[in-house]
Amino acid sequence: MKMKIAVLTGGGDCPGLNGAVKWVTKSAMERAVDFEVIGITDGWRGLVEVDPDDPKSREKYTRTLDEEIVRTWDRYGGTNLGTSRTNPFSPQNDRSEILLDNIKKLGIDVVVAIGGEDTLGTAYRLHKLGVKTIGIPKTIDNDLVGTDYSLGFDTAVNVITEEIDRLRTTAGSHSRIFVVETMGRHAGWLALHGGECSGAYIILIPEYSFSFEEICSLLKERKGREIRYAIIVIAEGAKPTGKEEFIQNTKVDEFGHVTLGGIAKFVAEEIESRTGFETRHLILSHLQRGGTPSAHDRLMARWYGIAAVDMIINEDFGRMASLLRGEITSVPLKECIGRLKRVEVEKYYNKERYNGRRSIIN
Ligand code: F6P
Repeated sequence: MKMKIAVLTGGGDCPGLNGAVKWVTKSAMERAVDFEVIGITDGWRGLVEVDPDDPKSREKYTRTLDEEIVRTWDRYGGTNLGTSRTNPFSPQNDRSEILLDNIKKLGIDVVVAIGGEDTLGTAYRLHKLGVKTIGIPKTIDNDLVGTDYSLGFDTAVNVITEEIDRLRTTAGSHSRIFVVETMGRHAGWLALHGGECSGAYIILIPEYSFSFEEICSLLKERKGREIRYAIIVIAEGAKPTGKEEFIQNTKVDEFGHVTLGGIAKFVAEEIESRTGFETRHLILSHLQRGGTPSAHDRLMARWYGIAAVDMIINEDFGRMASLLRGEITSVPLKECIGRLKRVEVEKYYNKERYNGRRSIIN
């Protein structure tokens, strides 16, 4: 009897997802255990909406994967399986019974869910209901607990760095200040690493609210040194002291998230009015999730995909593949959900300069 693995990608897309699907598939095909791998269309939505009794619907929502099909997938960004923010356990629209029924009817033995806290939270709930699940960490925010690395982060940091390199020439030519907004709802890793790699003058993160007085005085000090421009990197979830996050759209998704964004414009206008320096803003938005995966994301996708198959063979269900201190291992899904890995300000941030740390070994 073949063991059927269903693999799906959930939440925001990012480079590295296709590589993980490729390596789950390829690695499964090479094992002594007789595996069959199917890809699920659009994450949890596919498993909820599929009608297992209707061949047309099965064709729409499930797809048999083999080595030939996935051969080149690791080179491409996005997710060839499609994704969604569907929450089958949503209190407003609970479809968990349908989900369980469909998993059974499709003859799925194990679900490999590639995603962030929401997708993995669903995998954990399924695990508690007796479904064999394995998680692979993905989020460009890199804020998942239980792993040092989540797929997509490195590519996104590279995008931020490249875009800021590009921005510098025009910012310098016009003596302008640029406020660059990155993603990162609750955690500042993208802004911090993107800012550190691109040499931003000021980095603003959700974990440390900022004072306009202080950042304006840093900018004045820099202008005083005849430096013609400055780059400020700000995470979408950063906020000035006493203010709330900037919400772009109050409509919540099935996991209860609103869409953040727009803080860069507000900060740019405030700086210009307080200092008189010409200040523009740029929102990098979904560009950070686009493009081809970096070498690091390809490697991590490969290792996580292989690890997921190892975990299935070892019957390590209800766990997530993870990178801890340079080693690939696995951790219980339960430990990865319900909280986020945020920037430890005292350790990684310099509050006086609003920038990365200036002392590392204490
Ligand atoms: O959770 C990952 C993330 O990249 C957040 O940083 C961002 O707020 C969100 O996705 C945006 O997602 P979308 O616009 O695709 O719904």
